Formats: sequence, structure tokens, C-alpha cells
Amino acid sequence: MCGGPRLTGEVAVEGAKNSALKLMAASLMIPGSTRLTNVPQISDVDVMAEVLVRLGARVVRSDHELHIDASTLTSHEAPYELVAKMRASTAVLGPLLARLGVARVALPGGCNIGSRKIDMHIHGLETLGVEMELEHGYIAARVPESGLTGAHVTLDFPSVGATENLLMAAVLARGTTVIENAAREPEIGDLAHFLVAAGARVDGIGTSVVTVEGVERLEPVEHRVIGDRIEAGTFLVAGALTGGPVTVTGFGSSHLDIVLRKLADMGCDLEVGEDRVTVRRDGPLRAVDIQTLPYPGFPTDMQAQFMALLAIADGGAIITENVFENRFMFAGELARMGADIRIEGHHALVKGVKALSGAPVRSTDLRGGAALVLAGLVAQGETVVGDIEHIDRGYERFVEKLSSLGASVSRRANVSDFDGIC
Ligand code: EPZ
Repeated sequence: MCGGPRLTGEVAVEGAKNSALKLMAASLMIPGSTRLTNVPQISDVDVMAEVLVRLGARVVRSDHELHIDASTLTSHEAPYELVAKMRASTAVLGPLLARLGVARVALPGGCNIGSRKIDMHIHGLETLGVEMELEHGYIAARVPESGLTGAHVTLDFPSVGATENLLMAAVLARGTTVIENAAREPEIGDLAHFLVAAGARVDGIGTSVVTVEGVERLEPVEHRVIGDRIEAGTFLVAGALTGGPVTVTGFGSSHLDIVLRKLADMGCDLEVGEDRVTVRRDGPLRAVDIQTLPYPGFPTDMQAQFMALLAIADGGAIITENVFENRFMFAGELARMGADIRIEGHHALVKGVKALSGAPVRSTDLRGGAALVLAGLVAQGETVVGDIEHIDRGYERFVEKLSSLGASVSRRANVSDFDGIC
């Protein structure tokens, strides 16, 4: 892509990747046909659909809808080749234990942003009575004859995945489960509302103390996936970088409170509606410090996009990454475009430069890759971003949407590169 034009116009985001994947896993708990709408057309959803099919579910996709019939499951194993492709496959652990009483799920292994351990998932499920063994890179888990038993679980850290696995297992456990220090991300709220609609009894949704009264079974439901706040934030940063005005629709603006505040602190003008936000910037970008934290703190999934913003802001700022241990991978690629970034452990010191220069770079991970494309929108000259399969995992029609806003960006045919026409 070629840096330069202000992006202007309106773009609608898809359903949230980090909700859709868990709703698909939760459908395993329902002996019938679940219908999900507003499902994004991204490769992670394809992988999760493959996991469900391996387990015996029937999955039919039409446009942005998924029909999942989990009436009969024929396997309890999530194979390594799929879990290695997508860590979120571990979200089938709780549902399989709740539905079948047994599960064999490959350990996810690390990825480009960190070790991605699941010790809190394991400890929490053991508290509910699950017997676990780690063997040959798999978790072999079994529920005792007496079934899952509700318990009081306090998480060491508000882990999104651990909260979700425990919530799903607790829904069909006997008795009451209390999850303390639960993660509060909006996608977890979406999952909880889905489960309640299917007959679960969940209190404290959206808070850090979630109470679940186990029920016997769940009934088929239809559910619309909430809008993707991170996709929305990504396009708002594109507007902030180039000046806009860019309007992003189709998501709950209250889910991006702190991100919107940071954009305003950096000198952007925002018009905030309930399900839409317009961003424009006429003056210089001001540097502000960023600390990533569990929700409602600044989302780690927006860290890379803000590093691209800070790379051309007036002044210096410190980004502190508190959630993942290795989420500055893409900074090295941004530095190839002229960004002035010094990494010290969990801190990145970003000093704004006058302009970035286009260069060939490679996506290191999903959000880092998207951030490199954003940087290419304002860099002088052509930027070619490689390994864009990372981006395709979580962004539907990313090139088309950016082009519709006036960006000069295209996808090279038959290779995994974005490039621009200058
Ligand atoms: C989810 O990952 C999201 N993925 C991530 O989005 C997101 O960055 C993350 O939550 C935090 O918001 C999906 O929902 C599919 P965690 P998850 O469990 O569940 C450590 C994206 O770009 N940890 O909250 O894996 C872990 O290593 C992706 O869309 C343990 O140590 O996040 C990490 O450092 C990237 N032990 C931290 O906690 C555990 O048992 C946060 O992990 C679990 C987690």
C-alpha cells in the first residue's frame, strides 16, 4: 500500500472473532441445532468449524450464519494439528467435559505473542472435580462418575479463556459455582447471554464475580454475535492516522471506552453514538502512554495499532504490555519503516518521527500484521506486508474495507502479500 490519502467514509465491522469462536465451542453442549448470525468470514472460524466437525457436529455455513447441529458427538478429541493452528480450540475443553464427561485436547503450545499457558484452565476444572493428566502433549481429562460439581474458584489472573472454559463447564455442573476474579471482556458477556438463552443460570455477567447454578441440559438457541470492538478500534486508528473523518459502525462503542479516550487524548475529535463512532484529526498527534490491562483496561489487542499511531506522534511515550509476555514482536518490523522504538522488557519507548517510509515487512501476528498495514497507509512510498495469513485469521475483507475508505492498497494475487499502487 502507498501512504498518503486521508481515509474518509463509513465502514461496518463484523461479529467479534473472540466471541464467535467460543459460541461455536459452547454449541457442543447443546443436543440440537444452534444458529449463530453475524459470524465473521475469517479463517479462525473455518478452523473452529473443522474442530466441531471432527467431534461429530454438523456445521453448515451460509453467508454470515452458522448452523451447528451437535445432536450426536462421535469424538472427544481436539487434535494437535488443529489446536496448533488456533489456540482458541482449547475452548472445547469445558463444553466436552460438560456434555460427554471426557475430553482429550492438545496443549496449545506457544505462539508469537507468548507462552499461552492453560494452567488456570486446568486448576479451575480440577476444582470442579475433573481428573486431568498431561500425556504426549495432550490434556486427558475425565469427569468422575458423580459428574462435575460446582465449586468456588478464584483465578490468579482474569484470564479470558480460563473464565470461558470454567463458565461453560459450570453451566452443566451439579450445584453452584462461583468464579472470582473472572475476566470481564464483552465477548465473555456475549457467551454468558448465549448460555442463559439456552437455559443456563448465570449471575454477575460482566462483573468479576460470576455465579452459576448448574442445570440438567441446554436447549437450542439462535444468537447474534456482538460486533467486533477490536476490528472497530483498528479502523478508528486508520482514521486517526490519516485524518479521516472515518465512521465505524456495528459495534458497542461502550466496549471501547478507554481506547476512545486515548484517541481523544492524542488529539482526535470523536463523535460517539451507541453503535457507531466517527473519528477525525486535523492537528498533530500527541504522544500518550499506554498500559494494557484486562477489560475494562486498555485492550492488549489494540496495543500494536496504537504503537503505529505513536510512531508518528509529537513526542515520546511508553507502552507497557501487562497481559502477554512477548507482544512487541512487530515493533522490529515497524522500525524497518523508520519508527524509533526501544524495547525494555514489558516496556516499549516510542519516539514519534516526522514520517515513516514504506518498506517490505512481514506480519508477526494477527494484530501486529494489521498495524503494519495501518502504518503503510501513512508511510512515504510503497509498503509490502508479507505473511498476511495472520491478518486473515481475524479480519474479513480487510483490503476491501480499507479501499472503500480511499486507501491505496491491494492484495497481490496468489501470494500472501499486500502491496500498494503508488
Ligand atoms: C483471549 O486470549 C483472546 N483470544 C486474545 O485475543 C486476547 O488478547 C486475550 O484474550 C486477552 O484479552 C481469544 O479470545 C480467541 P488470557 P486468551 O487467557 O484467552 C496467561 C487476538 O488478537 N495465562 O486472558 O488466551 C496468558 O499466557 C487474540 O484476537 C496463563 O498464564 O487470553 C497470557 O499471558 C490474541 N495461564 C495472559 O494470561 C492460563 O491458564 C492472558 O491470557 C491462561 C492464561
